[in-house]
Amino acid sequence: MKLLVVGSGGREHALAWKLAQSPRVQLVYVAPGNGGTAQDDRLLNIGITDPNALADFVEKEQIAFTLVGPEQPLAAGIVNIFRARGLKIFGPTKEAAQLESSKDFAKAFMKRHAIPTAEYETFSDVAAAHAYIDAKGAPIVIKADGLAAGKGVVVAQTLDEAHHAVDMMLSDNKLGDAGARVVIEEFLSGEEASFIVMVDGINVLALASSQDHKRLLDGDQGPNTGGMGAYSPAPIVTPQLHARVMREIILPTVRGMEKEGIRFTGFLYAGLMIDAQGNPKTLEFNCRMGDPETQPIMARLKGDFSKVVEQAIAGTLDTVELEWDRRTALGVVLAAHNYPEAPRKGDFISGIPVETADAVTFHAGTALADGKLTTTGGRVLCVVGLADSVRSAQSVAYEAINHISFDGMQYRRDIGYRAANRKHGQG
Ligand code: AMP
Ligand code: GLY
Repeated sequence: MKLLVVGSGGREHALAWKLAQSPRVQLVYVAPGNGGTAQDDRLLNIGITDPNALADFVEKEQIAFTLVGPEQPLAAGIVNIFRARGLKIFGPTKEAAQLESSKDFAKAFMKRHAIPTAEYETFSDVAAAHAYIDAKGAPIVIKADGLAAGKGVVVAQTLDEAHHAVDMMLSDNKLGDAGARVVIEEFLSGEEASFIVMVDGINVLALASSQDHKRLLDGDQGPNTGGMGAYSPAPIVTPQLHARVMREIILPTVRGMEKEGIRFTGFLYAGLMIDAQGNPKTLEFNCRMGDPETQPIMARLKGDFSKVVEQAIAGTLDTVELEWDRRTALGVVLAAHNYPEAPRKGDFISGIPVETADAVTFHAGTALADGKLTTTGGRVLCVVGLADSVRSAQSVAYEAINHISFDGMQYRRDIGYRAANRKHGQG
C-alpha cells in the first residue's frame, strides 16, 4: 500500500520512517517533506500543500490513508475535506482541533468538564486585561488565543512583563488575529511532561510517555523554542500518575468532546505540569503529536505502525496493544544559527552518521539539492540515541552528534538531565 504523511519537520520524518518499515507499505509520500525524507528510497516528497490538491493526489495514486503531522492543516480543516471525499485520514476535524487552535475553547471546555488546569480568564479588552493582571499579581501567564507557532505564550515573572505581553498581543496586534483575544492564567510550578494518546472517537490508546526541553539553553534557560530535545519514557510518569492522567484528564476530554457533538479523532497531546506532590494539571492540549517527542517515541515503537493507524481510522483502537522497546530513546535537536529569533538558512551540512540499531537522525530544516544537504532554518536535525539508561542514551546521541557539522550549529548538552538525575527510572 501507499501512504501519505503531511508536513515537513522531524516529527513527519519520524512518522514516515516508521510507517515505511512495514512490509505492507510500498511507498510513503511526504508533503512537502525535507532533505531527509528526500534521501530515503522508501519515501517520496511531493510539493503539494493545498488540501484539495492533496485529496486529488490521494485519489489518483490510490493512497490507503493519510497521516497529518502539524496543527495548521488540521485547524484549517484538512480532515473535513478528506472525509467529505471519502478518503481515509487520521487527525481531528477542524472543530475538534479547536482544543489546540483556540486556548479559550480549550480552557472553557476544561472548566465545563472539571478537568484540572490553571485558573484563568479570557480578554479582548485591553484595560480589563491590565486590571486582571494587577489584581492577580506576578508571576502570571499570558497566552494568545489562536495558533502562534510557539510565540503565543509569555510566562511573565514580573507585572511589567505581563502588561507588556498584553500590549504586544491586544494593542499592537503583533500576533495578528491569533492575539486578538488573550487567556490570562495562573502560573503553575512543577515539572512538565507530554502525555500523548491516539483517539478513534471513542477508544483511547496511550503512547509511551515523554518529556521535551522547550528552552534554548542548558539548564532550561533562555527563550522558549519549539523543543530542543526529548526522551521517552519519562520517569516522572509513573504507572500511578499514568492512571490518574487517563482518569482525570484524557478520558473526560474524549468523553466531553463526544458529549458536545465534536468527536475527537487523532493524536491528543496533553501538556502536563506535575506539582511537587505529584498532582497533574493540563497546561495545554495539542491535537497532534509533539515535535521532537515523536522522534524518540517512534524510535521505541515496535511492530507495524501502519496497522495501528488503520485501526484508529476504523474505530477499533480497543483491539490494539502497542509494544515498546524497553530502552530509553533520547533525541537532541541541532538548530540553525540564530534560532529561534531569525534562523539562518543555506549552511552546508556534513557528517550525518548512517542509521544503526541504536542511533538514527531525523531531519527537519534541511533540503537536498544536487546531492548536497543544506539547512533551511529552524530546527535542522534531531539525533536520537537508544540505550538501556538515560545516561547511556545521552552518550549514544552525543557521540553521533560529534560527527555532524554545519556553520552556526547550536544544541543543548544536557538533554535528559532531569530523568538522568532521578534515582529510579520507570514508566
Ligand atoms: P503552552 O503552549 O500553553 O504549552 O505553553 C508553552 C510553555 O509555557 C509550556 O510548555 C510551559 O513551559 C509554559 N507555560 C504555559 N502555561 C503555563 C502556566 N500556567 N504556568 C507555568 N508555565 C506555563
Ligand atoms: N514539543 C512541544 C510541541 O510539539 O508542542
